[in-house]
Amino acid sequence: MVGAVQVGVLAACVVLFVPMGMAGWHLSRNKMLFFSGALFITLAVGVHLTPYFPSLSHLLLPSLSSSPPIIPSIYPLPPHASPSSTASPGSSSPTASSPALWQWAPSASTLSCGFQRLSGPDASDLLNGSWVLIAGDSQARLFVLALLRLLLNPTAMDPVEADLFRRHSDYHLTVADHGIKLDFLWAPFESNLTAILRDLHPGPRYPDVLVLGSGLWHMLHFTDSSEYGECLAAVKKAAASLLSPVLPELRLDGILASSVQPPHMFWLGLPTLVAPMLNTEEKRERMNRTVWEAYDREVDESKILKRSGGPFLLLDIGLLSRGCGRRCTADGMHYDRVVYEAALHIMLNALLIESQQRI
Ligand SMILES: *[C@@H]1O[C@H](CO)[C@@H](O)[C@H](O)[C@H]1NC(C)=O
Ligand SMILES: *[C@@H]1O[C@H](CO)[C@@H](O)[C@H](O)[C@H]1NC(C)=O
Ligand SMILES: *[C@@H]1O[C@H](CO)[C@@H](O)[C@H](O)[C@H]1NC(C)=O
Repeated sequence: MVGAVQVGVLAACVVLFVPMGMAGWHLSRNKMLFFSGALFITLAVGVHLTPYFPSLSHLLLPSLSSSPPIIPSIYPLPPHASPSSTASPGSSSPTASSPALWQWAPSASTLSCGFQRLSGPDASDLLNGSWVLIAGDSQARLFVLALLRLLLNPTAMDPVEADLFRRHSDYHLTVADHGIKLDFLWAPFESNLTAILRDLHPGPRYPDVLVLGSGLWHMLHFTDSSEYGECLAAVKKAAASLLSPVLPELRLDGILASSVQPPHMFWLGLPTLVAPMLNTEEKRERMNRTVWEAYDREVDESKILKRSGGPFLLLDIGLLSRGCGRRCTADGMHYDRVVYEAALHIMLNALLIESQQRI
């Protein structure tokens, strides 16, 4: 077991550092457009990030470091890490009143691999010239907000937040000086995501980065996990059609038109729900722990995620929100910005690694 861990860490470092050494820090959109098979590294990024929460980190970190680093296992929930018991009211945690922070888990492997917290300018460089499409429910909207907070200066954020919090609406923005095009599409149901993917296919251009996620609405309105699984299978199928090479077309002048670049795809996992805090009776009844676990299981069983051979790298909101606990949420469902920021940096590091690998 330990041998496997070390080999994994070593391999991750080799793949990360050799191209970095060769390429330096210079990034361009072209480099970023490459869809590499960096499954194990990007998963390693995911597992090494936890919101920094002192009273939980000692519970979470040992269990992560004693298992292979590439397999984030978030269920069954260990009883001591369940949302209902992580932060008891009146707990004397020194950070209880200050806003939560996150940091990369301080393990030897994350330190040596140099996962980073990207600055706004670095993130802008990385995404320069890119089209970022984010679609889903309010979790996706909070993720968009985290991205914009990083890219835009604070004074530009006020009108953006006002726009983004008009409920159930789409949002479009172009960050002109970096040529970043950002679209948020309100898509509370999986069928909405499938429709968006079908509209993208077969081009003429695909988004460079695609972040999708939904499930809470289905859970509330249908409470049927196996049907959710079927919907996810349809999402997966539509996503796979973006990955299969678009056959080059023979143009009139006899030149083969270049094929469309597939997007980097990310899936926003379901947030941990704190049932007693949910704000309606209906939610408290239907969105209980058992149902959540069944839904979460469908995400794995539908094989939509890279870790089970699918197209999407998981941004594990469930794990991150559980790490932060009930002190990070007012309604048991939407979390403080730290959770989405941490997920954003997992995504950026994954993109960074993939872009470095294409040199
Ligand atoms: C973004 O890329 C364009 C060319 O693709 C370049 O001219 C511009 O300087 C870049 N901007 C930044 C901030 O890197
Ligand atoms: C999402 O799907 C539902 C159910 O299929 C549909 O009623 C709704 O109009 C769709 N919403 C959007 C924004 O496409
Ligand atoms: C959870 O909710 C489902 C659906 O409403 C219900 O059938 C089930 O009995 C509930 N389970 C618990 C443990 O409350």
